[in-house]
Amino acid sequence: MSAIENSKLTVVGAGAVGSSVAYASLIRGSARHVALYDIATEKAEAEVLDLAHGAQFTGSSDIIGGSDISVAEGSHVVVITAGAKQKPGQTRIELAGVNANIIASMMPQLLEVAPDATYVIVTNPCDVLTVLAQEATGLPSERIFASGTVLDTSRLRWKIARRAGVSISSVHAYIVGEHGDTEFPLWSHATIGTVPILDWVPLDGQPKFTAEELDQIAVDVRDAAYKVIQGKGATNYAIGLSSARIVEAILRDEDAVLPVSTVLRDFHGVDGMALSVPSVVNRRGAFPVREIEFSERELELFQHSASALSEVAASLRP
Ligand code: 2OP
Repeated sequence: MSAIENSKLTVVGAGAVGSSVAYASLIRGSARHVALYDIATEKAEAEVLDLAHGAQFTGSSDIIGGSDISVAEGSHVVVITAGAKQKPGQTRIELAGVNANIIASMMPQLLEVAPDATYVIVTNPCDVLTVLAQEATGLPSERIFASGTVLDTSRLRWKIARRAGVSISSVHAYIVGEHGDTEFPLWSHATIGTVPILDWVPLDGQPKFTAEELDQIAVDVRDAAYKVIQGKGATNYAIGLSSARIVEAILRDEDAVLPVSTVLRDFHGVDGMALSVPSVVNRRGAFPVREIEFSERELELFQHSASALSEVAASLRP
């Protein structure tokens, strides 16, 4: 492993999500330099000022930004959050048309100023936008991927940890597939410590997990964003933290296994669609772990996720 020196992150979009990615990255020290870019000059400059005013407390990172694309020059990682956000009750897929146009118009300018960056797409529907952007730019699939189900996986682990009475770091479980309505947990690989989840006996006298309970947890995780959006109009903090975590894995060349969404090739029957699977993330990008085995049911769900999203992507191709 060799971390990138003098690392630079650009966050595109200074809305609630983009500002939270920048904030989380500054607090965590994810990158040495952070830039925030948005076409809305006043908004971008105000967010940058607000973030910069906390410089005394955020260690050695600095923040710049504005509406001139040159702020992204020389970035090692670009996180894209620009675009329309879900309204209460709206699905991520419903944003596909409008956000695909936004990303398509931005990518050429970004590639001009940051030709060597790794691109992380957070804008929804992130899997569909990733496959379209990968095809349009011709970037290798490891260098343009979506934040995918890193956030959903954190939601899952949080729920399991609380119920099981263990630290979240001792829960090993992943959400895979779409970052959205067809996502699902890889229960066949879910363990607490080394114990398969259904065998875990909580220390506080709670009963063991049941299969029905796991189904309910999967539904709650899948619908978690709807609940937050209903209550506050957007999700921002947890996606900010998840994105900062992905940025670190790249810039620190960590080889961390994270469920990001890359365009898959011949992966459990999926070819040419971006879906999240546990992937090794380092300074060269994201590489799906090919050895992972799915149960028969998981394979079905995975292929269902792929075909649902492929239809959406097909309807948007030029
Ligand atoms: C989330 O899952 C809305 O995709 C966003 O929080």
